[in-house]
Amino acid sequence: MQQQLFINYTENIRLQKKGDVLNFNPKLVSFRELVPEIVSTSYLTHSIYYYPAKFIPHVVKYCIDNCTKENDWIIDPFAGSGTVGLEANLAKRNAILLDLNYMLNHIIPLKIPQEKIQLEKTILNKKLEQVFDNNTEFTPSWSNLEYWYPQDILDTLKKFWAGQKKLDNDLYSMIIQATLVKVSKIFSFAEHKTPKLFKSKYKNSYISELLTKDWKNILINTIVNQSNDILKDINQFINLTLNNNNFVKYYGGVDSANYQIEKDIEVDCLITSPPYLQAQEYIRTFKLDLYWLGYSEKQVKSLANLEIPYRKANKLIETDSLNKIRKELKIKKLEDMLNSYFYYTIKALENATINLKKGGLACIFVGNPKVDGIEVETWKIINEYFSEYGFSFRAIYEDRIKMRQLFGARNNKNPEGMKSEYLLILEK
Ligand SMILES: C[S@@+](CC[C@H](N)C(=O)[O-])C[C@H]1O[C@@H](n2cnc3c(N)ncnc32)[C@H](O)[C@@H]1O
Repeated sequence: MQQQLFINYTENIRLQKKGDVLNFNPKLVSFRELVPEIVSTSYLTHSIYYYPAKFIPHVVKYCIDNCTKENDWIIDPFAGSGTVGLEANLAKRNAILLDLNYMLNHIIPLKIPQEKIQLEKTILNKKLEQVFDNNTEFTPSWSNLEYWYPQDILDTLKKFWAGQKKLDNDLYSMIIQATLVKVSKIFSFAEHKTPKLFKSKYKNSYISELLTKDWKNILINTIVNQSNDILKDINQFINLTLNNNNFVKYYGGVDSANYQIEKDIEVDCLITSPPYLQAQEYIRTFKLDLYWLGYSEKQVKSLANLEIPYRKANKLIETDSLNKIRKELKIKKLEDMLNSYFYYTIKALENATINLKKGGLACIFVGNPKVDGIEVETWKIINEYFSEYGFSFRAIYEDRIKMRQLFGARNNKNPEGMKSEYLLILEK
């Protein structure tokens, strides 16, 4: 199994020497076709939490099956919703997950539960009743909260959240938390079918109409149904992984460009998808969720300032392809963004590969966005940089974008005009 990747694609694999010019073309593949055993991107616990620009699990499974073996350690410095963690756990690998977004700390224990005891519907429904009967209030510490809700709905959500926070911290309360995160967006003025946080006319009339109905009953039914659906997914996951004792370490709320994991862990493989060059702001997207979960305005703001590429770089990354783009770019603001993007993305990848063993593979999944009409061949730039630092090129695959929901339910799902995504494989 492990050899498959290299047997099929040896014609693409050429060790890079210092100063080499890349002259080979990416191999066109379809990860969905290469991993047909995954029939849905949302199978098992993959979609308990909504997350923008998720990995399709097929790519991750492909890398795991072809680049790692049982009990290996895999690191993902841009873990997002933990797709790598879940696929690693299913395949009996250990995972280390890092992300700037605190959401990771709420998503992982639910998505990859470590307790192997089946959950019971009756217990969940009893706890839900406690939440619905609660009369105290939890008020998020956010000055802008009232802007997003009609008063009656806000008052009810405050009681439900306070009730959830009083429960013992177990899988049941985490299920209810995940559901409350969902409904707190659905029952707000914020558009809930797109990741970005914004009000829309459509949503305004949706809420006005809701208020004319028995909205509280609708809210309670939604919470009960969604919580029970999550319980089913979790039980299915537990069933599948009964004999599986692999570790998942997760660090949400850390800046991967400046964070290093424990020195004594030897990592066998890196699998990651960094943010896109003109990615949406993740922390902003999750504001509503983070405040309900109890984070303060100060915490959320300080995280947002560390987000790639929305922070200033104090050093330049120099590679042939990147320098060429810099020469062509006429807009200073875009050049700053490009500089910031590559500086912090590469710093995070470098940090995450410190613990990678010699001979370990780094699988990096990126797009080639356009900036002011110029295509930025991200994989080439990353490859050029790392080949200067003791890594050798192993493979490059191109997967045409089909259904991956990069930019949510906007009319133009792909404003940067990206046709493909690329999987770059490097060896340390
Ligand atoms: C493309 S998403 C990763 C999605 C993930 N592969 C998944 O399947 O859910 C990129 C991630 O980079 C994170 N990010 C942005 N800046 C970061 C930083 N400085 N340190 C760590 N993570 C960062 C974002 O929060 C986002 O979750």
